[in-house]
Amino acid sequence: MSRATTNRPSPPFVFPAMKTLIKNAQVVLPTGVESTAILIDGERIAAIDPAGHTAVDEIVDASGYHLLPGVIDDQVHFREPGLTHKEDLATASRACAKGGVTTYLEMPNTRPPATTQALLDAKLALAAKNSLVNYGFYIGATPDNIADLRSATNTPGIKIFIGSSTGDLLVDDQDDLERIFSETTLPITAHCEDETTVRENAARLAGTTDVADHSRIRDHRAARIATQRAIDLARRHQHRFHVLHVSTGTETNLLADHGTLITAEACPHHLLLSVDDYPRLGTLMQANPSVKTKADNRQLWQALQDNRIQVLATDHAPHTLEEKQQSYPQSPSGIPAIENHLALMLNEVHQGRISLERVVEAMCDAPARVWDIVGKGRIAEGYDADLVLVDLQQTKTIRNEEQITKCGWSPWHGHNTTGWPVRTWVNGQEVYREGQFATSCAGKAALFDHARGGYWATVND
Ligand code: DOR
Repeated sequence: MSRATTNRPSPPFVFPAMKTLIKNAQVVLPTGVESTAILIDGERIAAIDPAGHTAVDEIVDASGYHLLPGVIDDQVHFREPGLTHKEDLATASRACAKGGVTTYLEMPNTRPPATTQALLDAKLALAAKNSLVNYGFYIGATPDNIADLRSATNTPGIKIFIGSSTGDLLVDDQDDLERIFSETTLPITAHCEDETTVRENAARLAGTTDVADHSRIRDHRAARIATQRAIDLARRHQHRFHVLHVSTGTETNLLADHGTLITAEACPHHLLLSVDDYPRLGTLMQANPSVKTKADNRQLWQALQDNRIQVLATDHAPHTLEEKQQSYPQSPSGIPAIENHLALMLNEVHQGRISLERVVEAMCDAPARVWDIVGKGRIAEGYDADLVLVDLQQTKTIRNEEQITKCGWSPWHGHNTTGWPVRTWVNGQEVYREGQFATSCAGKAALFDHARGGYWATVND
């Protein structure tokens, strides 16, 4: 397998036009796809189908292209601070721009883990300097930071590792979990794999070097027990809860009776890869939760179609190729996907598995609602001009040597996909155009208005 040793330099490139007209695009609006024009004025979408003689600084003729709201990825690991040999906010946010992602919400398992307001603020300051796209950062739960969780601000919510994964964050004790669900008010999200089950399975398979055992150690039972446990906690404490990276059909059944408290998401590796791919990909597809079977893939797609799963996110978790190529179980878990996720899903649109509108709902609108993000997730007047232009006909091969992520590889290396982002705008500024990146950092902190009440409170607006 070939590998990019350096990321390509960013050529100097356009600065924001004050007023931009994107015309002749097929625009994915909340009401459906329409052939129309969009006027960007400064940071916002000023008008849809503006009057004929509007004076503008730039006209983009988007004939033949579709215009989508920028993707909001609510589960990424960008490794800064502390693990920047794998990724950092500059490389990751450029990978976002290339992939049509205009806002990311980053997980707290950096080094040190983001478990206090001061550590969150430090991340926000780093992003303000280095991020090409918009950002937000979760606060991580520990058994003893309840005061920090109660007072945290400028954050989408609280992340609990109910099962351990990369890093040391873990809250497994029932009393600790009860306190977090009962004494905090921010929305909660969790990594759901049952620690006891995982440890028992690992002990039974002790000494294995077969990476396929990863899916026997982090098995269906581990996922089901932890997801059920978290759903019970959310219900009893009437606390908003979002299930990260659902990997099994069994969990999708638990989500059937979701009420109005619970939302869930799926990731591309759990939808598109299965245990049958271990011989081909080995430790490259080792992830937590593990990938499961083709039957699980099918059930996840079904749950995405019928809205038991509302959100698509990547769990972008870069590790270097050297780290990944260690033998199991020394090899770390995690898959990079941020710059190919939209293309992978557009390819599924091309193949007729899912509609473009459903992809846009799950990648743009739903995450904005789940996390109460102000002014994002849809193309509408007054919303932020976070936009991505896609060519639904373009076919390209994903190649390691073209990856912008610092880790420089993709499990989809060599995979042909049809439907690619070609241009991306963040807060009205063009940040990516067919291989070129803006040099200034257009990203801003996303605003979270938790009084909105989340996905189920706003889904019919
Ligand atoms: O596979 C994973 N890798 N799952 C996680 O939950 C964490 C992630 C990482 O940070 O490497």
